[in-house]
Amino acid sequence: MQVIICDNAQQVAENAAHWVSELINNKSNPVLGLATGSTPISLYQQLVAKHQAGKLSFANTTTFNLDEYQNIAADNAQSYRYFMNENLFDHVDINKNNTFLPTCTQAQNPREQGLAYEAKIKAAGGVDLQILGIGANGHIGFNEPTSSLASRTRIKTLTQQTLTDNSRLFKPDEEQPTLAMTMGIATILDARYVLLMATGKGKAKAVKDMVTGGVSAMCPASALQMHENAIVLLDKEAASELSDHNYYLWADKENNKVNQEFGLFHNF
Ligand code: PGA
Repeated sequence: MQVIICDNAQQVAENAAHWVSELINNKSNPVLGLATGSTPISLYQQLVAKHQAGKLSFANTTTFNLDEYQNIAADNAQSYRYFMNENLFDHVDINKNNTFLPTCTQAQNPREQGLAYEAKIKAAGGVDLQILGIGANGHIGFNEPTSSLASRTRIKTLTQQTLTDNSRLFKPDEEQPTLAMTMGIATILDARYVLLMATGKGKAKAVKDMVTGGVSAMCPASALQMHENAIVLLDKEAASELSDHNYYLWADKENNKVNQEFGLFHNF
């Protein structure tokens, strides 16, 4: 795990945008895994700004989102499709036919939908770089604690903590979905690179469990310890329960020397 401690949330977003644009600018048909939630919004703002400045084109990029509520219409403002359109897709030159979310209507079989999503990712060549946030309970995507570390795209029942954490996003008269389709932990681990962003004090305990705890289904993000290329971008608050800050800062400097000479990605 490459733990990068940034001065603030803005730097986390800038750093993440650098990884994404390096991928897109250096690979002919990049496949990007995307996340929703509050944390990646500033990343998407950075990407839109780069696109508007003529420095980044999404014309050849394919995207796969981590998750989507079950049985939600694309034009429902609470859907993750709507979120992605609003925060990224509507502002860049991506072909929306190449943007995918794990949808599942009431009439569809979630098991078949999960398998179909996995097949689509495979057919696209696999995810090159997966963006992740982390829940206060350690979830990645909607892989809640106790999710199998070998899980694949499937339907999940959200925990009470996740429902409470996300309730801020719903108006009192809006129904909050309790079921979602999500990439599994094994699906996420298949990505060639994973880049997890975490900011704020509320994530400090989950970050500590992910980086220094044992690998456990109780903290799904800890599975990233088993990933060959996991980058963890933190602000100081999210990193506040980690010991060894000096080591991470020093290692980052050394990694930067290699990255500057040889590029960020080494196996494309
Ligand atoms: P947040 O969500 O970015 O809104 O904090 C992260 C997550 O639950 O994965």
